[in-house]
Amino acid sequence: AHEAAFATLSRVGIVPVVVVDDPARSSDLADALVAGGLPIAEITFRTPGAEAALRTFADRPDMLAGAGTVLTADQVDLAAEAGARFIVSPGFSTAVVRRAQELGLPVLPGVASASDLQAAVAEGIERVKLFPANRLGGPDMIASLSEPFPEMGFLPSGGVGPGNAAAYLAQPSVFALGGSWMVRRDLVAAGDMAAVARLSAEAVALVASLRA
Ligand code: 3PG
Repeated sequence: AHEAAFATLSRVGIVPVVVVDDPARSSDLADALVAGGLPIAEITFRTPGAEAALRTFADRPDMLAGAGTVLTADQVDLAAEAGARFIVSPGFSTAVVRRAQELGLPVLPGVASASDLQAAVAEGIERVKLFPANRLGGPDMIASLSEPFPEMGFLPSGGVGPGNAAAYLAQPSVFALGGSWMVRRDLVAAGDMAAVARLSAEAVALVASLRA
């Protein structure tokens, strides 16, 4: 299950970070992402509707739905119960990592430093989310961190978008880009799913062209 989920994240190369304001929009939002070629979503536990949205996404066979902003072991349980196929946290939490591992769920812990990476390695982690990537130093920081941690895979997120996708993907250790630019809250709130689908398709095309 681990390698299958990570293989899908790597193949698609983009992890949309979704903040749900209205779970009733979930089904349309999932349709738009799939139509745009992005059958992946990190549903963040930042809003009251997150769990319901995660259920809607996770019920779909055409969608790899994970939980993001998972801060506690209890939230790992909630996410698993709602059908999450992977777990993402913004920072490094041993408790979150261990609970996910106990449940057999792939986990992408957040890191912001070499210390966090050491803690991740100690838990057997091979892939991490670098957050907030742009604030921390962007692609150059990943290059620096890859010197002592050459085997680590990075998912940069936070300020990542079409303008810097090339620089991030130029780092061999970057296996996918995370971000909200194709699922902007204002677009989703306005029900502009055509824009979500278009921005998703553009993101997919951009990553494909940069990897070619
Ligand atoms: C995340 O949790 O990865 C970020 O909130 C996404 O950041 P962005 O909104 O700058 O893409």
